[in-house]
Amino acid sequence: MPTKPKILVTSASGKTGLQVALQLKAKAYPVRAFIRQRDHRSDMLDRAGAELFVGDQYSLSDMRKAMKGVQRAYQCAPTAPNGLHFNAVFTAAAYEAKVEHVVTLSQWLSSVDHPSLFTREVYLGDILIGMRPEMSVTTVNVGWFAENYLMVLGMAAHLGQFTMPLGDGDVKKNAAPSNEDIASVVVGALTDPAHHAGKTYRPTGPTLLSPNEIAEAMGRALGRRVRYVDISERMMVKALKALRPANYSEAAVTQLAIYSEEYRRGAFAVNAPTEDVFQVSGHEPEAFESIVRRKVADQPGLARSLPGSIGAIGSFLKILTTRPFDLDRAQMQRDYVQLSSPSYCQDDAAWAESHQPTARKTAPMRVA
Ligand SMILES: NC(=O)c1ccc[n+]([C@@H]2O[C@H](COP(=O)([O-])OP(=O)(O)OC[C@H]3O[C@@H](n4cnc5c(N)ncnc54)[C@H](OP(=O)(O)O)[C@@H]3O)[C@@H](O)[C@H]2O)c1
Repeated sequence: MPTKPKILVTSASGKTGLQVALQLKAKAYPVRAFIRQRDHRSDMLDRAGAELFVGDQYSLSDMRKAMKGVQRAYQCAPTAPNGLHFNAVFTAAAYEAKVEHVVTLSQWLSSVDHPSLFTREVYLGDILIGMRPEMSVTTVNVGWFAENYLMVLGMAAHLGQFTMPLGDGDVKKNAAPSNEDIASVVVGALTDPAHHAGKTYRPTGPTLLSPNEIAEAMGRALGRRVRYVDISERMMVKALKALRPANYSEAAVTQLAIYSEEYRRGAFAVNAPTEDVFQVSGHEPEAFESIVRRKVADQPGLARSLPGSIGAIGSFLKILTTRPFDLDRAQMQRDYVQLSSPSYCQDDAAWAESHQPTARKTAPMRVA
């Protein structure tokens, strides 16, 4: 039997990387998992039989070592500053190691003049990775992950409120994919480059949901009424500064504010949902309620309890008394490259043209 190719998974402790590595191991592929540190997530990778590579993903020396003997790779820049640096390091090391196929995690919003520096860096990273014809690439263009809503699940569980700055509660604006479904598209492309090289996929959940419908799904999963509250950008900044869910840095908050504006403008609703999860993986995408139910089952702290309610009220008071920081000043203090005339996606004619359903290159087959 021919040996299976070795696959490097970057950001392997992250939301999609962990699932990609575990799904590849379930298919008996040799996997090298690039992680920053050993912890409960690396224990899962270890138990699944992945080879652990502990290092710094932004260091070319470490990335060169991680790429040794690898034939395919998952390129996943962390949601953090210096994404373009990561992408340049990854691309240089992949070309040197003569990697045959890369699956890159891009963004649905990726566009040349986007207001978000992170997004413009993704756009540049997409160009870099595709520059050499001897290495094939599959691009996975994801919109707003389902996981983003779960950051505020604690407040929903204990205070009955789903608080995010998503605009009108009745407008259906996103069909959010689970980390597992995004990973299943990545894994499909990594394990079958012959079918997926040169293609672009956009994994989504099965249906567009409004913020009110998201709150209702949370309520059903949590067994209590949950109400959507459209908060201001200022309140979002206070909450992220006070609670730092998912270790959001100040820099990441500046970009999340821009992505929230794209959400309110409806960019994630454009041409959603897609059939890409089914076409590549052969299974139907997971419904949002089922994603929340899994999270609730995994986290006993989400069950209603007096200590839980007291903790949530404490967090709420902390948010109210936290001073927000100025988003523009935070970007300027970091010397972020600023454009004189940035364009949100739907105002950008090139983005609108290239994100039509007919322009997207999807797989022509369905896996049984
Ligand atoms: N969230 C969304 O809605 C969304 C939408 C579209 C596209 N995206 C794209 O998704 C990508 C992020 O993917 P993700 O959410 O799966 O990743 P993620 O959860 O942000 O994980 C990134 C991982 O990288 C690790 N890491 C950070 N710095 C490192 C270093 N110096 N050396 C080694 N490891 C390091 C982190 O380790 P620790 O956990 O140990 O800190 C973390 O596990 C971004 O490129 C973003 O553009 C996200």
